[in-house]
Amino acid sequence: MMTNKTLLLTGASRGIGAATVRRFVSADNGYGQLALLARASDDFDQLIKTLEADNPHNKTLLPFEVDLGDTEALIDTVAAVHRATGGVDMLVNNAGYTAPAAIQQSELADFERTMSVNLYAPFILVRELLRAGNHFDLIVNIASTAGLHGRAGWLTYSASKAALINMSEVMKEELKIYGTRVACLAPGRCATALRSKLAPEEDPSTIMQPEHVAQIVEFLTTDASRLIDSERLVVKL
Ligand SMILES: NC(=O)c1ccc[n+]([C@@H]2O[C@H](COP(=O)([O-])OP(=O)(O)OC[C@H]3O[C@@H](n4cnc5c(N)ncnc54)[C@H](OP(=O)(O)O)[C@@H]3O)[C@@H](O)[C@H]2O)c1
Repeated sequence: MMTNKTLLLTGASRGIGAATVRRFVSADNGYGQLALLARASDDFDQLIKTLEADNPHNKTLLPFEVDLGDTEALIDTVAAVHRATGGVDMLVNNAGYTAPAAIQQSELADFERTMSVNLYAPFILVRELLRAGNHFDLIVNIASTAGLHGRAGWLTYSASKAALINMSEVMKEELKIYGTRVACLAPGRCATALRSKLAPEEDPSTIMQPEHVAQIVEFLTTDASRLIDSERLVVKL
């Protein structure tokens, strides 16, 4: 298969993002360039090393270290991604942040950080790439079932994901004219670091695994996936 397409994925260092990258590296799926965003960490370094050592289709891995909550740095990074790749065909807005708290203990600064990472960063990535003349085939926004139904103790996270679901509908309508598909996934509980923050008592082996969600993300690159309504796809065990 021709491998001339470019994926840009945020939150690549762990969890669902890392599982998605592993899948795209091992699959002969037409995506030859993988631009990967996360903050600098040992997890991120280690993942890139492991993938480079086992890269059966010689895909180009382009890691970019950035804090998505830092708007100026993100804008610079998007420009660097666009220069390095020549254009992004598929964008996966996967990175997510939460610090669950009761309403009376919630700080506005933390709400702002949640919105920055979960909502404003996806908006900035899409806006900056459009401004650079980028034509997307596909944008996948990873929301959450918590954005469909509010959850006690998760006000900031639930609200950010509800807004992401709505923003995805706007993107879907507005970017149709460019032939861009916009899918919004709402995963249920999935065994990652973020989930263990939300539900520390839960046994991770009893719930959905990151690889399951990664499978669905990759499915969205297939022709068959064009036949499903991808506005709010609930993905759960
Ligand atoms: N796990 C679940 O049960 C579940 C359910 C529904 C939806 N989701 C959504 O799935 C997505 C992936 O989450 P996950 O469960 O895989 O969580 P995770 O394992 O904690 O991974 C979160 C990812 O987001 C990145 N990230 C967080 N804050 C960042 C920041 N300020 N700048 C740059 N990157 C940042 C992290 O990278 P760093 O290395 O930089 O920290 C990491 O790669 C999120 O949007 C989450 O809300 C998860």
